Amino acid sequence: PKTPDDLFEAIQALKKKLNAVILAHYYQDPDIQDVADYIGDSLELSRLAASTNADAIVFAGVHFMAETAKILNPDKLVLLPDLTAGCSLADSCPPDDFAAFKAAHPGHLVISYINCSAAIKAMSDIICTSSNAVKIVNQIPKDQPIIFGPDRNLGRYVMQQTGRDMVLWQGACIVHENFSEKKIVQLKIAHPEAEVIAHPECEPPVLRHANYIGSTSALLKYSQASSSQAFIVATEPGIIHQMQKMEPKKRFIPAPPTNNCACNECPFMRLNTLEKLYLAMENRTPEISLPEETRLAALRPIQRMLEMS
Ligand code: 13P
Ligand code: SF4
Repeated sequence: PKTPDDLFEAIQALKKKLNAVILAHYYQDPDIQDVADYIGDSLELSRLAASTNADAIVFAGVHFMAETAKILNPDKLVLLPDLTAGCSLADSCPPDDFAAFKAAHPGHLVISYINCSAAIKAMSDIICTSSNAVKIVNQIPKDQPIIFGPDRNLGRYVMQQTGRDMVLWQGACIVHENFSEKKIVQLKIAHPEAEVIAHPECEPPVLRHANYIGSTSALLKYSQASSSQAFIVATEPGIIHQMQKMEPKKRFIPAPPTNNCACNECPFMRLNTLEKLYLAMENRTPEISLPEETRLAALRPIQRMLEMS
């Protein structure tokens, strides 16, 4: 297949042949979102991966997302179109360093954001995503000390929302830490009618300007429910494809990055292409695999998350 239309057709045929489901994150290229069976945020995609009857899961997202799907489905084929699609936030938390951090804080419950490796999940008590982090922390007894990792910005936001103190691992996402407060303020002045909507992975100076803060799905829902006609969107701009589809008359302005580089697309998410997705299905590779011992240890805190949210 050469053209996008050919690829769409070939992917549909392979989907039947493999009895596969294609799950795509909102940060994927628009054509990948359009070919997917389901599009969602991290929590929705984990739920879908936990409940699918398909024999194969094609995960159009980054490695930790596909790995979570494999942890939940050891007997299914889980494909990631580009195996090098990592995540700066997951990389900011090396397992050996995190083990030492944990050992330095005995008696702490470990709550880890799903944007981390299976090795970190295996050292955690509960996993959370940006859409259920506040809800999960609120269920923990007040006298229980908590380590929260790896994202310091989500951690700080959760502390504000719950009024709790937590020990934070100092990790961050290169995409969400790259939004320019100054340029957002300039945009607000140029578009006083626009609301700023932001992902909690953004830094406090950006979040301070937000009319609404939430996970990708929450931002999408808010942009539909709000009576505003314009939004400055401080998260990866892939989400704007769905926002614009749902609300063709509203205006969505991507929040600008600090440097002069083109945009705030996640370089890892964007490694996946429609062609690589087709090739992965055709060749049944790259496949996600992980040691059974790690898988079982990482499964427990994911199941706790699914039960608590
Ligand atoms: P969501 O859970 O909001 O989809 O976020 C995933 C992510 O990688 C944000 O950078
Ligand atoms: Fe990781 Fe940031 Fe990309 Fe999300 S946007 S996958 S946190 S690097």
